[in-house]
Amino acid sequence: MLSKFDKMLFQVIGAGVFLYGLIHSILLYFIDSDIELWFYNIFGKSPSCLKGQVVFITGASSGIGEHTAIALAKHGVKLVLTARRKIELDRVKRICLEVSKGKLHDRDILVIPMDMMDINSHQDYFEQAVQHFGHVNILFNNAGRSQRAMWEEIDMAVDKEMFELNVFSVINLTRVAVKYFNDRGKGHVAATSSIAGVLGVPFSGTYCGSKFALHGYYNTLRNEKGHKNLCVTLLCPGPTFTNFLTESFTGKPGEKYGIGTRPTDKRMTAERCGELCAVALANKIPESWIALFPLIPLVYIAVYFPFVFRCGLKILGPEALFKLRDSRDTSVLNEVHTV
Ligand SMILES: NC(=O)c1ccc[n+]([C@@H]2O[C@H](COP(=O)([O-])OP(=O)(O)OC[C@H]3O[C@@H](n4cnc5c(N)ncnc54)[C@H](OP(=O)(O)O)[C@@H]3O)[C@@H](O)[C@H]2O)c1
Repeated sequence: MLSKFDKMLFQVIGAGVFLYGLIHSILLYFIDSDIELWFYNIFGKSPSCLKGQVVFITGASSGIGEHTAIALAKHGVKLVLTARRKIELDRVKRICLEVSKGKLHDRDILVIPMDMMDINSHQDYFEQAVQHFGHVNILFNNAGRSQRAMWEEIDMAVDKEMFELNVFSVINLTRVAVKYFNDRGKGHVAATSSIAGVLGVPFSGTYCGSKFALHGYYNTLRNEKGHKNLCVTLLCPGPTFTNFLTESFTGKPGEKYGIGTRPTDKRMTAERCGELCAVALANKIPESWIALFPLIPLVYIAVYFPFVFRCGLKILGPEALFKLRDSRDTSVLNEVHTV
């Protein structure tokens, strides 16, 4: 028999759990990230805690990489901007110097034109940055391309090329950085994954596979080295306004999706995404989800209640998830693509 006190205790605990769940659920309606990142964005460290540190960013010539660089530059964080298009990197450098309002000078931002696929040069590029600044504090692996294609129609050549870019080049550069951080005694590696790397969204088979692979590599790295002052961060944005969709792979080698975003699409701005990435880096968060409603609650359901997620998908169909992601219906997959 439970005593009166025990009953009261159970009621209080039950009410507490219910209230916690309720506040969580209501909060998810209003916020554009998971709860941990939301909390750190308000109560955690500002990116200004990285002032004077050096962040090496890949894919910094546009989109999320560009806007993370800008968000960090505002706080006087020194930058290594890398991608293939030098002209775009120079443009991003000029914006970063401007928004830094005198906190950064020309020497504080190093532009390195670099093709991620050229893995034999990674060591040289990284050393170039170390020589220029004397050290590097954070490697942010952000370069990557997406995909739109039917799962069974994907040519194996596309699988291989996408894994070369989204996985093997990232892992190779990370290895260069981890060896350097081992010698230095501390460091931080981060990579841009995707909500697609958590959910497995339809019509992006290779892309999801590549981002899931990143989770495997990075989570293992964290478990293996996390106790040795090596921080490992996975950033998982949802749909964001960038060039990303146009540049996406399809199922055929050499083809690009070629269908851009529209202003009316439901996507986060790259600026907001960059700000949140900067906060996640400053607070050394292991994994962050960044997306507009209803994607964040959907990810919580998929991760914590997979049965409910599967039932929902069975009822609504994969087309509903595609529409949520691209703000279009799947007929667009049959449109003509550019090479
Ligand atoms: N936008 C989204 O909705 C979304 C959602 C989830 C995750 N993401 C992830 O966010 C990351 C950045 O994408 P984004 O949305 O910002 O698209 P983006 O504007 O197209 O940026 C992609 C960046 O990657 C660089 N890049 C591509 N191929 C490269 C190569 N071979 N070598 C070096 N750099 C290369 C591009 O620079 P160059 O062309 O100058 O080389 C560019 O700076 C990707 O990893 C992507 O998976 C994006």
